[in-house]
Amino acid sequence: MGWNSWNAYSCTVTEADVRAAADALVETGLRATGYEYVVVDDCWMAEETADDGRLRADPADFPSGIPALADYVHDCGLQFGLYSSAGSHTCQGYPASLGRERLHARQFADWGVDYLKYDNCGDHRGRDPVDRYAAMGEALAAVERDIVYSICEWGRNAPWEWGRNVGGHLWRTTDDVVAKWRTRDDEFGLGICDIIDRTSALDIGAAHGPHGWNDPDMLQVGNGPDSGQSRHEPTDVRRPLTDAETRSHFALWCLLGAPLMVGTDLEALGERDRELLTNEHLVAINQDPLGLQATPDRRDDAVSVWSKRLRDGGAAVGLFNRGEERATIHSHADSVAVSAHNSYRVLDCWSGDEWETDGAFHAEVEPRDTVVYRVTPK
Ligand code: GAL
Repeated sequence: MGWNSWNAYSCTVTEADVRAAADALVETGLRATGYEYVVVDDCWMAEETADDGRLRADPADFPSGIPALADYVHDCGLQFGLYSSAGSHTCQGYPASLGRERLHARQFADWGVDYLKYDNCGDHRGRDPVDRYAAMGEALAAVERDIVYSICEWGRNAPWEWGRNVGGHLWRTTDDVVAKWRTRDDEFGLGICDIIDRTSALDIGAAHGPHGWNDPDMLQVGNGPDSGQSRHEPTDVRRPLTDAETRSHFALWCLLGAPLMVGTDLEALGERDRELLTNEHLVAINQDPLGLQATPDRRDDAVSVWSKRLRDGGAAVGLFNRGEERATIHSHADSVAVSAHNSYRVLDCWSGDEWETDGAFHAEVEPRDTVVYRVTPK
């Protein structure tokens, strides 16, 4: 859990934005909820490396340098993350780490980096992805600092099959998420519903678990098409995702056990978005120690029931309506991943209402919305 600069600021990110995000994590209560890592994505580097190949921060946008920024983030009680790529250059054309893995891993460790997002852009010099990602995995393992290794290979070469073996702690499973429900084939990126459908089709839940997580990309809660440009409007006024779509986005990411990386301008975080991101029931489902990924009971239907087992013997259940009509979605304790019992407690994770059932439960679900229940044996 944490915050990443990309979805809000893309290539305009500055040191001041990152400090403001760290402050805002504390002030909004997101840090207390568990959002912990502050990750600077692409575009923090200068256009040229130092003569010895070490990376340099852009002197105009990061005038204090990365170690000072890492110190600032640490002093806020947070962890600090940085970005590079397993190629000659990053996706925005800045110098990257292929062939310089040991040098850069040492540099990251010396700078106080706790998390590395490692992208797939630039010239690969004919090397295959497993080899390129293993080189950085070995370099990170050789430094005396624990650094979370976040593989961003877009799911092109099934990283869920080899991510752990190369030292990865999480790996992206799809192309970039955008702040839309769906995208057309000729548009950049994937919408929220596209990623949910793709995750369901990939069927990769078995690869997911403690120390190695499938990553369906970062959160777009609070973002609009103009994100990063309009900085002082509350996020929930300008977002293009509706309330229902935003709820489904957060609900499914929690059920999937996704790394919850907030990607919005936190200084402008609206109250509804803050409440969503700090919903204790949803975050508890996301962080459940069993670390399972929810699976759907059916694919390609307007409605589906996603469920995952929880450590207390209960289950988290998402009643997801991806259709355009209101729907009544029925399910039963027998068909979700809950231990068999005579009666169950059902908690509605949005409203906090609780009731008892001998097994059956249902919900009226608005178009593109998701109701989440926590079903616990009594
Ligand atoms: C993409 C990556 C994004 C972001 C971007 C930066 O490859 O998927 O999450 O990091 O590069 O240029």
